[in-house]
Order: sequence, then C-alpha cells, then structure tokens
Amino acid sequence: MSSHALLVLFGSQTGSAQDTAERIGRQAQRRHMRVRVEALDSYNVANLISESLVVFVCATTGQGDPPDNMKKFWRFLFRKSLPADSLCRLDCAVLADVLLTKLFFVHGCILIYLYIFLLLLRPNGVSDPWLISFWQKTLSLYPPPAGLAPLREEEKLPPRYVFHFLDEVPDKQTEHLQTPPTPLQPFPARVVFNQRVTHPSHFQDVRHIELDITGSNIQYSAGDVVMMRPCNAAEDVEQFCQLLKLDPERYFTLTPTDSSTVPARLPQPCSVRFLVEQFLDISAVPRRSFFEVLATFASNELERDKLLEFSSAQGQDALHSYCNRPRRTALEVLADFPHTTVELSIDYLLDLFPEIQPRSFSIASSLLQHPNRIQILVAVVKYKSMLFKPRKGLCSSWLASLDPSTGDVYVPLWVKKGSLSFPQDPDTPVIMVGPGTGVAPFRSAIQERAAQGKMANVLFFGCRSESKDFYCRSEWEEKVQAGQMILVTAFSRDQEEKIYVQHRVKEQSKLLWDLIAKKNAFFYIAGSAKQMPASVCDALKEVFQKEGGMSENQAQEMLDAMEKAKRFQSETWS
Ligand code: 2AM
Repeated sequence: MSSHALLVLFGSQTGSAQDTAERIGRQAQRRHMRVRVEALDSYNVANLISESLVVFVCATTGQGDPPDNMKKFWRFLFRKSLPADSLCRLDCAVLADVLLTKLFFVHGCILIYLYIFLLLLRPNGVSDPWLISFWQKTLSLYPPPAGLAPLREEEKLPPRYVFHFLDEVPDKQTEHLQTPPTPLQPFPARVVFNQRVTHPSHFQDVRHIELDITGSNIQYSAGDVVMMRPCNAAEDVEQFCQLLKLDPERYFTLTPTDSSTVPARLPQPCSVRFLVEQFLDISAVPRRSFFEVLATFASNELERDKLLEFSSAQGQDALHSYCNRPRRTALEVLADFPHTTVELSIDYLLDLFPEIQPRSFSIASSLLQHPNRIQILVAVVKYKSMLFKPRKGLCSSWLASLDPSTGDVYVPLWVKKGSLSFPQDPDTPVIMVGPGTGVAPFRSAIQERAAQGKMANVLFFGCRSESKDFYCRSEWEEKVQAGQMILVTAFSRDQEEKIYVQHRVKEQSKLLWDLIAKKNAFFYIAGSAKQMPASVCDALKEVFQKEGGMSENQAQEMLDAMEKAKRFQSETWS
C-alpha cells in the first residue's frame, strides 16, 4: 500500500498557526504520510478539488479578520459563484475559528474532525487535544502502510532543504528592479536622515526617518503604510555563525528534499551572511516546533531531556516561563544548549527558523509636501525583562541603527494600501486623534490635505510632556498659523493628574458636535495605547449625549452609523 498524502494549509498572522501547521506536517511524516505544508495564499485553491485530505490551520487577527496571508482564500470561500457542494469530496479538518468552520460546512466538506479553537489565544498548548483526536480519526480512515510503526519524537526527519556549499564566491548578480516594488523585489530606499525627536532625557527614543524613493515609481496617499523587513543585528549574526561554526562569507545553493521550491527571497547561490542577516528570524522568541527539531540533535542527556520537555504537551508551562515570559530569543536558546547547537546540521536551518516577516509603518509624510520621499515616525522598542540584557524590537532597533552620516544606507521597502481613507470633498472636516506615534498617518493626511487646500483639519495630539516628546511641534505651529489646522494637545505628565486625549475630546464637545453633526466631519483614531481607542470612543459618545441630547443607546447608534459610513475609522497597533 502506498503512503497517503496530506496537505496542511495555514493562514497565519503572528506565526503561531504556521508553527502548528508545521508541527502537524512533521507528525504526518512520522506517520509515514506524504505531506505538504503551505500558506493558504500561496496555494492555488482551484487544486483543492483534487486533494483528498486537507487540514486547515487558521488564526484570526485581533479584530476577527482573516490573516493577511489567507485573504485571497477567504474571498474564494465567500464567492457567490462557488457551487455549494464544490468541495464535497474533500476530507478536511479545521483548526480555526467558528466563522471559517461554518464556511466549510456550507461548501459541503466532510469534516472528519472538528475542534473549534481560537489559536490566537493560546499559541503553544492549544492544539494537543485536537491533534490526538485528529490522528485517531485520520489513521482509521487513512491507515499507514502495513508493518510501519510511527517514528518516535527523538528520531530525525529529513530536512526540507539540503545545503551545497560552493568553493568559490560567485559573480555578483545584476539586480532587476520591477515597478512598482513588491515584497519579493523591494525598492532600496536611501536613508536621508534619521533623527531622534524626543529629548535625550526622555525615556523613549522616537525616530523621524526620511527615505528617498526617487526612481521607485511608488505612489502613495494619506493612510498608506510602508512595509520593510528588518535585518538581524551584526553582533547577532556574528554570534550565530560562531555558535554553529559557519563562515558568513561562504556561498551555497539549496536543493529541496520534497516537492517544494526554494524560498523565492533567497538568491541562488546565496551567502551564509545573507541567510543569517536577512532571512532567518533568530531574534524572535522560538516556538514549540523549534524545540521539537532541536531535540532530535541532542545527544547530551541533560539538554535532550530539557528539549523534549519543552516539546511536549506537559512542558508548555515550563516553556512559557523559560521563553515567552522573559522574551528569550532563539539565538539565546542556542547559546543555552551548546552541546546540541554544535551538533546541529546546517541542512535544518530552514526547518528551525521561520523567515523574518515584514513590518509595517504608517507613512507620516505626503508626496505633495515631500516629493520622492517617505517619512516615518518610529518608537524604538526597548524594555527590561527577567533577563540580563534589555529586550529590543528587531525592526525599530535596526532602523535606529541606520546612520546616513557613515555613507549611503538603504532600507528595502514597498508600499501597501492602509486601512484609513480620507474624504475627497474639500469641505468635509476631518478630526484626528493620534497620541504618540499614532500621529503618523495624520501628519501625512494634514500635509496632503493642506497642499490640496483642505483646511478643516482638527488634530488631538497626546504625549507625556511638552518639553520632552512633543514632536512635530514647529510643523503644527506653522500650520495652525497658516489656518490649515486646529491643534489640541494633552500632556499627560506635565501636572499631577493625567490628562489624556479623551479628556480633551470631552472638553471640546461644542466644536466636535458642530463639525460632526452639522458639517458631516470624519473622525479618526490611531495609536498604540491599549485602552486609548475605547476611551476616546466613550468620550465621543459623551459628546453626542451632552450636545445632541441623546441617550447612551442613541449615542452608540450614531457612532455605529458613522462607522458604517466610514466616517469613523481607527487604526491601532500594539
Ligand atoms: P502616559 O504614558 O503618561 O500614561 C503617548 O504615548 C501618550 O498616550 C502618553 O501621553 C501616554 O500617557 C498616553 N496614554 C497612555 N495610555 C493612554 C490611554 N489609555 N488613553 C489615552 N492616552 C494614553
């Protein structure tokens, strides 16, 4: 009897669904199945018709939206032209949320095992009970070839790719730039300036960075976002290569060991430095599958026991305390398991480490005021954990380290439509609430609108102190002087009691009511504070109640109606 084929498709936002998908893939290999693990959006859904057994592992994002890499698939499921029973010959299992699961029912799939769970809530431990039942059911329907027992957890599986090192350094390949830039062919934008805009004594380093996009064909408007992939820090690349005894200057080519292709972002041949600096996410907190693969290399008993514990269902609390709570990086874990790390085969690097994911920043400038430029405002992420070294955000620390005074430095980037959109009508007022770096998309909007002669702009800006983190101050003052905007500030720590943007919203009730109820204004919120958006909404409803004589319910209805009409929009991040 030949082995059965299993397809695992994942839709992942933070990487936890992908991690689970890859673990399922390895479990299938241990059960002698032929398996493919693919992101939903890179899979041609028309081929589903010829699959027999598929597992869908899908996370949902904070707002219940599908992850970015399954948006196409999501649209496919919602398509009116899709016959109701089009997927009826498919055996499928779904590890996802309720809505997605319902859609599979609608399309007539035979759900062989169903367990509804929000992956997002508990990234590591959630799938164990699901998986045990899933394998019981699957193996009864798709039994393994006779006489073959499943491989044990400690046994090595073949790597996805085999490395072939070259003896020589290949000729540099000429780069072909596509227009406009794409994730696979980003535009190398030169860093024009990189300035700290908070006072040196302020706790937070916020950067104002300007990037030159001349010749890129990039067009953008207010609300759009710039995407970029950060690089690992030079000292981390160095340490990684030392731990694994790798020469960063050597080149290699990759051969897939199954039907998959070499990741498109890796040039062939590729240098070890490129791979470690720009592709492998060695600074993220490693997930469970990292420990599963690492454990198969451990011959030191102490290290093996620990790694197997972290791979097991019972060891998830210990793994959480060791890794997630102190935000320990994969590189630090390798350093903690030195015996295993030296035994690690290079071929497994792409099984161990996920790819560095792109990060997005709201664009903080307008092409109408800054032609051929993209500006961003970046809060450099740095915080203490239980570990000795402070924790640093990969992308913001990388950006902060780019110093144009040392020569030309580049940020490879591309631009995506953002979720915020601004009214076309020149007389429609816009009210924007953007504390901290939440002000970025509004700076873009104010610059764009002012250049178009749209003067009805109201900005609520909040920061800790007038003297320490009131960035863009002179620009706002000029625009206020020119009659292009109204500015309302909330300095939270310049007095005893905290003053936040929501307090200012309530104080400005007459102005806001006039703009919203009489002049059809649009209202926007952007920022990173967790409680802030909800508090601003509450403040706005109080304005409706006070000035419009509404009940609480009526105020909520008015806000809902504004949201439906896209007159209320928000973009928040953590
Ligand atoms: P704080 O740090 O003094 O609490 C930009 O970060 C500004 O947003 C700061 O002034 C910060 O104040 C403020 N902020 C923090 N939490 C907030 C909340 N829940 N609502 C509104 N503003 C908040």
